[in-house]
Amino acid sequence: MKKIYYGMAVLALCCTPGRAALAQTAKVTVSNDSKLTISRNIYGQFAEHLGRGIYDGFWVDPKMPVKKQDRIRMDIVEALRKIKIPNLRWPGGCFADEYHWRDGIGPRVNRPKMVNTNWGGVTEDNSFGTHEFLELCKLLGCEPYISGNVGSGTVQEMSNWVEYLNFDGQSPLTAMRKLNGHPEPFNVSFWGVGNESWGCGGNMTPEYYANEFKRYATFAKDYKNAKLKKIATGPSDGDYNWTEVMMKNVGTRMWGMSLHCYTLPTGNWNDKGSATKFTEAQYFNTMKNCLRMEEFVTKHSAIMDKYDPEKKVALVVDEWGVWTNVEPGTNPGFLYQQNSLRDALVAGTTLNIFNNHCDRVKMAALAQTINVLQALVLTQKEKMLLTPTYHVFDLYKVHQDAKYLPIKLDAPDYEVNGNKIPAVNLSASQDKEGRVHLSLVNIDDHKDIVVTANMGDIKWNTVSGQILTSANVTDINTFDKPNNIKIESFNNAQKDGDKVVVKIPAHSIIVLELK
Ligand code: AHR
Repeated sequence: MKKIYYGMAVLALCCTPGRAALAQTAKVTVSNDSKLTISRNIYGQFAEHLGRGIYDGFWVDPKMPVKKQDRIRMDIVEALRKIKIPNLRWPGGCFADEYHWRDGIGPRVNRPKMVNTNWGGVTEDNSFGTHEFLELCKLLGCEPYISGNVGSGTVQEMSNWVEYLNFDGQSPLTAMRKLNGHPEPFNVSFWGVGNESWGCGGNMTPEYYANEFKRYATFAKDYKNAKLKKIATGPSDGDYNWTEVMMKNVGTRMWGMSLHCYTLPTGNWNDKGSATKFTEAQYFNTMKNCLRMEEFVTKHSAIMDKYDPEKKVALVVDEWGVWTNVEPGTNPGFLYQQNSLRDALVAGTTLNIFNNHCDRVKMAALAQTINVLQALVLTQKEKMLLTPTYHVFDLYKVHQDAKYLPIKLDAPDYEVNGNKIPAVNLSASQDKEGRVHLSLVNIDDHKDIVVTANMGDIKWNTVSGQILTSANVTDINTFDKPNNIKIESFNNAQKDGDKVVVKIPAHSIIVLELK
């Protein structure tokens, strides 16, 4: 079965004559017939109080010999500024539904400690709280996305937090904010109303949560310069009933509805598979699981279209990424995993899916930025490395806020043990200066694939490119060899009349610029 993607539609072509001849070539048509923008917020990040994501990640020991502002690690900030992260989701995750914001403001010595019951049962000292998070976002140049506590909090607690953050007049809460060093409102807009309310956020039914959402959302007020974009707990993977109930009962009262969807190499939560030691069959399975994002987004969008044909409600994929077994010898509650070329191929593929669904997917967040799950950055004391996934976000930043260009793709299959998945995926956009960018992923572990892209009415003269690849899909960056996998320039794309012809090496990601 070969798939043709055109814009958001997925069609299927079966038994095309001459298939064998197409085995290592793919054909693409790129159109500029679109008014859609790929929101920069698709490139968002997630940082939970989990393992070494915040503590010993963003927020380090005052004595650590690295450049810091307060306790914020500046080498990480500089790396993330380079890839233009647009938003950062905090404080969870499951942690959000046991977090009480008042514990994390005021003089640090006075802040109460708590147990992080979800993640390793460690003591949380609350030294990183609201002001520290918002200072971090300021340094990163990104928008904050705060998830409020529905599971173990109260309507009043959430309502007060919003007032504390966003009201610009006089009230006991704004007086407290001033006392804590920030007289001006923070103007936070992205607001999560709970997290995974079907699970760690309270084990609710969708009907119950829909009512809770309305109650909490009613008292989370808009203030001058900070109209809230309220994001409801959405489904996980293929829980279409959750989406149906939420759209029917809440609909356009929510700015967005989240979707959580992780790629497990084995598909089994009890033994997810190693981050670095896997066979080709396991690699194939991971990519196959990752490609299910196309199905999930398409089907949830179809339900949303039924209730919201004008596409006012955003689908916010605010937890996605590869979830493997933890690195041997590390705390199982800390979710620390290495990051290989396979992770980069998953990231490139997933971001292509989001770009191609930008009519509905207006925001997303990779889980999780530093030292947790499919991270962008790993640290070991004062050392840090940029993962292959980081480099994908670096390559793809050109799509942020660019005009979406629909594509039609005729791709060969990647076949392992008689199972098949499309070997190539891509997305395309045009930036404000008129430059066109194509991000192409060749998943096939062995075959190079020659892609011919017909650029239709799009005028261009020159093509240049960058590539991310390595000898093996298991290859990683290490603290001793942090540049093992890095972006290189790529010269194997040519202009052939109106077409661009590019040979994509096996297991690689390429971004072409046409101008
Ligand atoms: O990202 C790790 C956890 O995965 C989050 O805390 C939770 O929302 C999800 O189940």
